[in-house]
Amino acid sequence: MFISFCNKFFWYSTRKIVTLFFMKIKKIIVGLALLFPVSVFAAGASAGDEAGLYKAKCASCHGGAGEGSAKIAKMLKLDEAKLALASAKTQKASDGALLKVLLEGKEKMPSYKGKISDEEAKKLIQYIRTLKK
Ligand code: HEC
Repeated sequence: MFISFCNKFFWYSTRKIVTLFFMKIKKIIVGLALLFPVSVFAAGASAGDEAGLYKAKCASCHGGAGEGSAKIAKMLKLDEAKLALASAKTQKASDGALLKVLLEGKEKMPSYKGKISDEEAKKLIQYIRTLKK
């Protein structure tokens, strides 16, 4: 009698746990399904934004194609090559190193910390990669 009660209780609770488990999974799947189009939309909406951002904030010094602005180089009294993001030197540097310069600044390169979001900073580094000669 007692054993049969235990048995029943055991099955009842396992069934309950299994049901709860599937309910959780269902929630996760529904959540993902809802998130998916949103993230696709967000990615689609921001594609190309980095090109505009680069043109607006960086091209004045670094040139539209990352060739470096001769005028600015002269004004800042530095080697034009230092502004050339398309150069082999910059392209060889790691994403992390470039991100650091972008966020913290270096010599005459202004710091962009707080002026652009982390997301934008990463996108700009990816954009710089497309400038490779
Ligand atoms: C006022 C001019 C100026 C502007 C505007 C500017 N930069 Fe720079 N940037 C520099 C200079 C100068 C250096 C070189 C610093 C050094 O090494 O002495 C540099 C260096 C860099 C480097 C490192 C290159 C390397 O090889 O280490 C990256 C990456 C970079 N800039 C990205 C950007 C991005 C992205 C923007 C726009 C958000 C930007 N810069 C805007 C002047 C500028």
